[in-house]
Amino acid sequence: MTPTFAPLPVALPLGCHGARVDVATVAALIAAMPAGEWPEAMRDAADSARRDDAAAPVGLRRADFLAGRLTAREAVRSLTGADAQIGRADDGSPRWPEGVEGSISHYGGVACAVARESAGGIGIDIAPLLEGDRLRAVVRRCLTPSELAAQPSDAAVSLAFAAKEALFKASHARVQRFVGFDEASVCTDASECQSVQPVTSWARRTDSGTWTAALGERLAAGLGVASVNGAYAWDRALVYAVIALPAPSIGS
Ligand SMILES: CC(C)(COP(=O)(O)OP(=O)(O)OC[C@H]1O[C@@H](n2cnc3c(N)ncnc32)[C@H](O)[C@@H]1OP(=O)(O)O)[C@@H](O)C(=O)NCCC(=O)NCCS
Repeated sequence: MTPTFAPLPVALPLGCHGARVDVATVAALIAAMPAGEWPEAMRDAADSARRDDAAAPVGLRRADFLAGRLTAREAVRSLTGADAQIGRADDGSPRWPEGVEGSISHYGGVACAVARESAGGIGIDIAPLLEGDRLRAVVRRCLTPSELAAQPSDAAVSLAFAAKEALFKASHARVQRFVGFDEASVCTDASECQSVQPVTSWARRTDSGTWTAALGERLAAGLGVASVNGAYAWDRALVYAVIALPAPSIGS
């Protein structure tokens, strides 16, 4: 018995493989059988959790973690044709097999992952349509003045949040430091990144498309580019944001 994976709703960059799974199906598998009878993929996922960080993925988090690892394994299998164990580094980032980079996200009962041949870093994030206190907190803490000046809709704030977390995951290993929410400004049209015109129409819940992040000086220097482009899609009130960074140029 293994969970059924589905394709990601968001358009993946060239060369990327990805999948998603309903965490409930993984939770049902966990509940249905003793750990000793788990399929190999689930044993591997649980083993990688135990070996790399005995304390972290327990309780409710366990099904999310296992679902993320199983989906990551599926993305790597689709890319390389081989099964792989995806471990966990001290900073919480996944450890991918040699020559592969990838990213994992889980939210709202869904886990997803992407993988590609190692290049410049890749990130994926799922976020809900933000509302109420959480929306206000994200607006206060995670948006830059230029993003605020664009008077983003609730959906646009949610997308900007997901896009920034995907960008963090994609860039963290490369810049080797915490990247703050004030280090990138997200919009869905490169020209709007420079403007202060209201863009309330972008990123409605039914939309899918591309986004651009204009990078602050420090992040731009770290990645060797002034802006980066990603894709997004809304599905079942969740927004998926994905980004594949260009490989560093020789000498940088
Ligand atoms: C690390 C962070 C991005 C995780 O995102 P999240 O929305 O909270 O949770 P998600 O489910 O989407 O992602 C969790 C997964 O991220 C991955 N992850 C954690 N730390 C990571 C890192 N340093 N680098 C890459 N991936 C990482 C892990 O795979 C984790 O899942 P796992 O523990 O099951 O393996 C987020 O908690 C965070 O710290 N954000 C602040 C920094 C930021 O986003 N800055 C914006 C820069 S523009």
